[in-house]
Amino acid sequence: MVSFATINEVMVQLPGLEGPELTLAERLGQAWQDAGGMAWLLALCVLVGFVVIVWKFFDLMAKSGSTRKTVAQAVRLMPRQRNRLLLMCPVLYRLRFVRYESNLEEIGLRELYELADRVASLPGVIIECGSSRLGSAILLARHLERRGRLRPIFALDSFAGFRRDELDRERALGLTEASDDAFTSTSFEYVVAKLRKLKLADTIFPVEGFFEDTLPAVADREVALAFVDCDLGDSLRFCAETIWPRLASGGIMAFDDYTAWIVGEKRPSLEFFLGVKPAVDAFVADNLENIADHGLMRRLYYVKKR
Ligand SMILES: C[S@@+](CC[C@H](N)C(=O)[O-])C[C@H]1O[C@@H](n2cnc3c(N)ncnc32)[C@H](O)[C@@H]1O
Repeated sequence: MVSFATINEVMVQLPGLEGPELTLAERLGQAWQDAGGMAWLLALCVLVGFVVIVWKFFDLMAKSGSTRKTVAQAVRLMPRQRNRLLLMCPVLYRLRFVRYESNLEEIGLRELYELADRVASLPGVIIECGSSRLGSAILLARHLERRGRLRPIFALDSFAGFRRDELDRERALGLTEASDDAFTSTSFEYVVAKLRKLKLADTIFPVEGFFEDTLPAVADREVALAFVDCDLGDSLRFCAETIWPRLASGGIMAFDDYTAWIVGEKRPSLEFFLGVKPAVDAFVADNLENIADHGLMRRLYYVKKR
């Protein structure tokens, strides 16, 4: 910190400033006398200036508080605006940071493509349980298109978030802290419009509703690849058990979030899903005799049927 004495020493070196032998207090006293009748007016100006600065400071603090509130409200409203903007300008889906709105990280997507390639010669459809905004389903379709191996993808989701009873149960067990409104920023209408815009309405078939109500009819056909990405343990078990009998021999079922327990220990976000690993482990243990191969890739856990 620079002291007053130092400032005074520097100031007295300036040409035109007199009285190098005076201290700062003495110089101020002299200035006060020199100002004569104007001294009180100047002092008043300094005081008013100081009050204005303090007042502006607190005003700004209050405003930044309400700005924060406004921004939070805007963010809450944003999904609807975002949906509208993306549908109006679908080229935005291709941006790197949008990635068709997939929730899967790049590494998970690459693993999903790899698994799709592994079942390329098998008959059957692809089912995704938990599709949210269809980001991964769309990217997978694009991958298959590039390979010339497009096949139907059934994308199942409530398109309105988790089952409340299941979410409450997992939260009570400390398996997740996901909020009531997790994954509610999508809708069936939105994904249908999105597919139409991206000209994928003949390839990806969104199926709206809870898996318990929708999956049995969808899994009535042969399945080559199933991607189960529904975050909660009971739903995961239900999807895996329902699809398994219809999975082609050599077909693959993949699960996301198996590693969430590792991430969960560090608790980096409110959306970790610790129910996934035990549910996958239990499914594998119960079906071992029909499993040809299983294991954790870097992000996805795969189970290949005999
Ligand atoms: C992680 S998100 C899916 C993300 C998507 N696979 C992707 O990669 O972009 C999980 C989704 O599972 C859905 N979900 C969870 N349990 C469900 C249930 N019992 N029935 C229907 N949908 C469910 C949620 O609505 C949510 O959209």
